[in-house]
Amino acid sequence: MKNNITLIAEQLDRHAIAIIDNFLSKEVLDELLSESKHLFHKDELEPALIGRGITEQRVSEIRGDKIKWLENDQLTAAQEQYFNYLEQLREYLSNYFRIALPWFECHLATYPAGSFYARHVDQFRETNNRIFSVILYLNEDWKPEHGGQLRVYENGEFVDISPVAGRLVCFRSDLVEHEVLKTTQPRFSITGWIRRDEPTPVFL
Ligand code: OGA
Ligand code: NI
Repeated sequence: MKNNITLIAEQLDRHAIAIIDNFLSKEVLDELLSESKHLFHKDELEPALIGRGITEQRVSEIRGDKIKWLENDQLTAAQEQYFNYLEQLREYLSNYFRIALPWFECHLATYPAGSFYARHVDQFRETNNRIFSVILYLNEDWKPEHGGQLRVYENGEFVDISPVAGRLVCFRSDLVEHEVLKTTQPRFSITGWIRRDEPTPVFL
């Protein structure tokens, strides 16, 4: 694990995006996938939103994924393994880039067949607290004709990254424009953001 973390930091130092394959064991990946599939089939995921507060909207023409935020005290054993890893990554990147990164947040994401996420950066317009985006893909036997690639733009060019099980991608949330191409199969992942602040409590 430590090696992977070092690799991610070094890749991010030189490139806009870091990509690591064969991440986590097959058992843990299978477990994370079947837990997500279960929630998806039970219809227990929420439509993802765009913006926040009064600008929050649900716009399926922009993004069609369904999500479930993961809470620290309600994790399955497999989710906890991944959380522990994100915690190490958060700490390592904070030391490596010498910036305060006290927090990360993460959610399960499922893109139903036919959905996509239009080109965007991962920061809300009115805040800038997300520093690194970290996505782990869970899809076994993903084929090019399934679509659903992560398209990452850099200097007028782009690369397409297939959402294959065990692939982890990490990039700067404020800088890297990206989109999810239309998928023809349900597409499963866990998306997280390493933040430079702790979330302010919401008072109702
Ligand atoms: C996002 C996002 C990309 C992906 O959730 O902001 O861009 O490949 N996800 O799932
Ligand atoms: Ni994004």
